Amino acid sequence: MSDEQHDTIDALSSENRTFAPSDDFKATSLVVDTSLYDEANTNDEAFWARQATELVDWEQEFDTVLDWQLPDAKWFEGGTLNVSYNCLDRHVAAGRGDKVAFHWEGEPGDKRTITYQALLDEVSQFANVLKGLGVKKGDRVNIYLPMIPEAAVAMLACARIGAPHSVVFGGFSSQSLSDRINDAEAKVLITADGGYRRGEVFPLKPAADEACESTPSIEHVVVVRRGGNDVTMVDGRDVWYHELMEGASTDCPAEPMEAEHLLFLLYTSGTTGKPKGIMHTTGGYLTHVTYTHKYVFDLQPETDVFWCTADVGWITGHSYIVYGPLSNGCTQVMYEGVPNYPANDRFWEIVEEYGVTIFYTAPTAIRTFMKWGADEPAKHDLSSLRLIGTVGEPINPEAWMWYHEHIGGGRCPIVDTWWQTETGGIMISPLPGATTTKPGSATFPLPGVSTELVDDDANVVPVGGGYLTLTRPWPGMLRGIWGDPERYQETYWSRFPDRYFAGDGAKLDDDGYLWLLGRVDDVMNVSGHRISTTEVESALVSHPSVAEAAVVGANDPTTGQAVFAYVILRGGADTDEATLRAHVAEEIGAIARPKRVFITPDLPKTRSGKIMRRLLRDVAEGRNIGDTTTLADASIVDELQAKAAESTAD
Ligand code: PRX
Repeated sequence: MSDEQHDTIDALSSENRTFAPSDDFKATSLVVDTSLYDEANTNDEAFWARQATELVDWEQEFDTVLDWQLPDAKWFEGGTLNVSYNCLDRHVAAGRGDKVAFHWEGEPGDKRTITYQALLDEVSQFANVLKGLGVKKGDRVNIYLPMIPEAAVAMLACARIGAPHSVVFGGFSSQSLSDRINDAEAKVLITADGGYRRGEVFPLKPAADEACESTPSIEHVVVVRRGGNDVTMVDGRDVWYHELMEGASTDCPAEPMEAEHLLFLLYTSGTTGKPKGIMHTTGGYLTHVTYTHKYVFDLQPETDVFWCTADVGWITGHSYIVYGPLSNGCTQVMYEGVPNYPANDRFWEIVEEYGVTIFYTAPTAIRTFMKWGADEPAKHDLSSLRLIGTVGEPINPEAWMWYHEHIGGGRCPIVDTWWQTETGGIMISPLPGATTTKPGSATFPLPGVSTELVDDDANVVPVGGGYLTLTRPWPGMLRGIWGDPERYQETYWSRFPDRYFAGDGAKLDDDGYLWLLGRVDDVMNVSGHRISTTEVESALVSHPSVAEAAVVGANDPTTGQAVFAYVILRGGADTDEATLRAHVAEEIGAIARPKRVFITPDLPKTRSGKIMRRLLRDVAEGRNIGDTTTLADASIVDELQAKAAESTAD
């Protein structure tokens, strides 16, 4: 293990508070004992087969549970099913067509209530629209939308006809969008004129237009009218969603797909510059997200109102806004905008208005709420809440306690859920009626999931810090990286024999609780989103004035980590911090905009020329630098420290 990684693995904190589920909560809880764990431990394949049979409707029953040829898994072969059927038709057929699927709220305050019947109709219509545009089973469709119901409609319509979707978060730049479209060779792009954010319309169509200048595979662009901003429609290529929908039939039977049919691609950052198109397939993914949504959130589908605050552009939105909750037939809230428009209590106003019972958000949001103060949630009646959850990054014990007290009213269990784009669904989490929680610990792998910590030599670490690995395949696991099977094997299955390596460090305490300690690779976690240092470095170097760049994630009280960049300019070139920050936002998207960019004559490197990121991180976090004896030119560190001490940018 390198020095840098030791830093990540050393866990010095200890947390002794425990929270057992209350008798009140247990009284209605789906799981209050170890029975599911016992069942899964006896035979995990039989356990998953039972979940697949009980929770999912199959057109044709599967005949094999798992075919595992490391690193390739095939789950539920022989089975056929349709994901959109499972999310919509089966609920309508069971007489629940009038049940609300989404209470949608736009940022300006406009509302839509969409029942399961209405959603089925709109999805069927849009599936017919896609067919009319020439989209066939297997064709990829790109989606670049704000948080509007049409995002879910588009995804489900794709699933209905077997066209894998690739959703790109609306905050990404045109460059990121075109890279992803080209990698997937998508045929159709679905976007909007714009959406609302912080009280203003942010335009999406111009970015889509710019992207499409270099995406030869795109034949049509479907545009949803949302922002009302002016857009240019390209003749023969661009079509309005509402015009196409007007004449479309609501009759579009869901086509059964093979269990391993590609359901979607979702691009995520890795340690190299090129984003990875993570592949998820039909039967295993649906089983995994339906199962985890039901048991982790202890779902009572008749009465619960579930609100996951993620954007559909991330895996959390895929699995816990679209597929898991709809497959379980529950009622949800979907919100378009930011938490502080028009005021800092917008989320709590929404919780009160719709009587949200289960609330799922990110630690970065919780830290922001803490900053805004407990008075904001106190303005509202949050007594409808019965369970709250977190995802995306480790939650600090103090943020956990604040969440527990000020949002959960001291009565709601907290589910701290660890998982990844690659895992498809939740892997490590309490079961809220059965698990005694500790603030900051994601506790234990779920029934059916097997984890182990290992050291550098792949020895199992029973207590203490190590690398988090998964020792058994699971139904929601990624099936590969689009177009790059070697990278799939190399990234996840080669570091430790016979194990999936997640890229995270973790610690096991004396009671066997897992504590996630963050990434051990060069991937930053900013507001719960993975951003690769290499990608930001490439963006910086793409600026004509920049010769070399080094990027690190440094601790940040609100966003978890913040992007810090150090750049060397080309001879004779001149630029400034603001320009380079804006350049990164333009190249990748605002989420990757560095908090600080330091222009420096040199970078700290080892004698072999490797940039010493640990030192840069120390500088960024304001720590004194210890041993610099391996450094090629130690004086550069003094210079960087002096710069860091200067004024801050934000
Ligand atoms: O480092 C872990 C962190 O987020 C990474 C996965 O990021 P992404 O694929 O973008 O998916 C985020 C939403 C599932 C993980 O490798 N992470 C996620 N959840 C937690 C977490 N770290 C600690 N605790 C969590 N609950």
